[in-house]
Amino acid sequence: MNKERYDLTGSLLHWYDYNKRILPWRENKDPYRIWVSEIMLQQTRVEAVKPYFDRFMEAFPQVSDLAQADDERLMKLWEGLGYYNRARNLKAAAQKVMEEYDGEIPADYDALLSLNGIGAYTAGAIGSIAFDLQVPAVDGNVMRVLARLWGDDSDILKEKTKRKMGERIRRYIPKERPGDFNQALIELGAIVCIPNGKPLCDQCPWDTVCRAYKEDKTDLLPVRKPKKARRIEHKTIFLLETQDKVALHKRAERGLLAGLWEFPNIPGKLDLEDQKEQLRKWKIEENGIEPAGKGKHIFSHVEWHMEGVRIFLEHPVSIEDFQWVRKKDVENVYALPSAFEIFRKLL
Ligand code: ADE
Repeated sequence: MNKERYDLTGSLLHWYDYNKRILPWRENKDPYRIWVSEIMLQQTRVEAVKPYFDRFMEAFPQVSDLAQADDERLMKLWEGLGYYNRARNLKAAAQKVMEEYDGEIPADYDALLSLNGIGAYTAGAIGSIAFDLQVPAVDGNVMRVLARLWGDDSDILKEKTKRKMGERIRRYIPKERPGDFNQALIELGAIVCIPNGKPLCDQCPWDTVCRAYKEDKTDLLPVRKPKKARRIEHKTIFLLETQDKVALHKRAERGLLAGLWEFPNIPGKLDLEDQKEQLRKWKIEENGIEPAGKGKHIFSHVEWHMEGVRIFLEHPVSIEDFQWVRKKDVENVYALPSAFEIFRKLL
């Protein structure tokens, strides 16, 4: 079949009407809910986002609540979702919406794009879903669908590929339901045209026009040129513990996991002698040392390979930059990134 004459738009929307998942941010077209959901979904799977989304909406039901959010509370609500700059950007953007747009999320693509944390994909998603703008929303999942549909072997990690695919799909976006069209593409990528393993082509509304399917190339598309290997950082994590307290340290306000709490840690794999040397520097007289196991955490550009050590003390020792907190508060009060979860569980 000639794909230019095949009704790509109609068949996709029809499929979506019967197959879309019921998701909390699809209950209505409230721009604020859609915006928050799109930010959460940027790097995170739908199933993982759902409970966070509900809690977030309960805590900050409107953009004005988010603009005034307490930073610790905000970070606490985000704890475990990762990529914490998303939360900081959300709040900064909410403040901008209050100050510059009278508290109304702007119904304009370029204005959306000017808000913190909103790039081309997210502006397209919010613009089309909340405001019926006829603009594309092309992310990695949509690129997978389109690369297969068109048999396009461009490197999908390149910005240029994203831009070109956006321009090519733009003419199929209907005037009536642009948001549903974009969400249908996302949905097709999520539940049919899936990344790992075999896509479910027999359930696809585009099976008769899909180049990859026709040419048996679904496993070869999309193409992504290998990224540089992640940098590996070794760290020794110190659990400095008294009976009921443990020492935390607040990370720098810039960079990875900025402003969040962590267990004190030192770069490198310290052996027992090095660990004791470090304790002397902190003027800590320990009452016992025991290994606390290993952990690995993968960020986008770096991997942490961690080895933990538990240090038992009689009393808290005052050390610059460290805060002694009740062990039972570490889980509920302090925003501790999930990288440290395996050590936290030992407390
Ligand atoms: N991923 C990104 N945006 C989404 C949406 N609106 N629905 C489901 N998954 C998504």
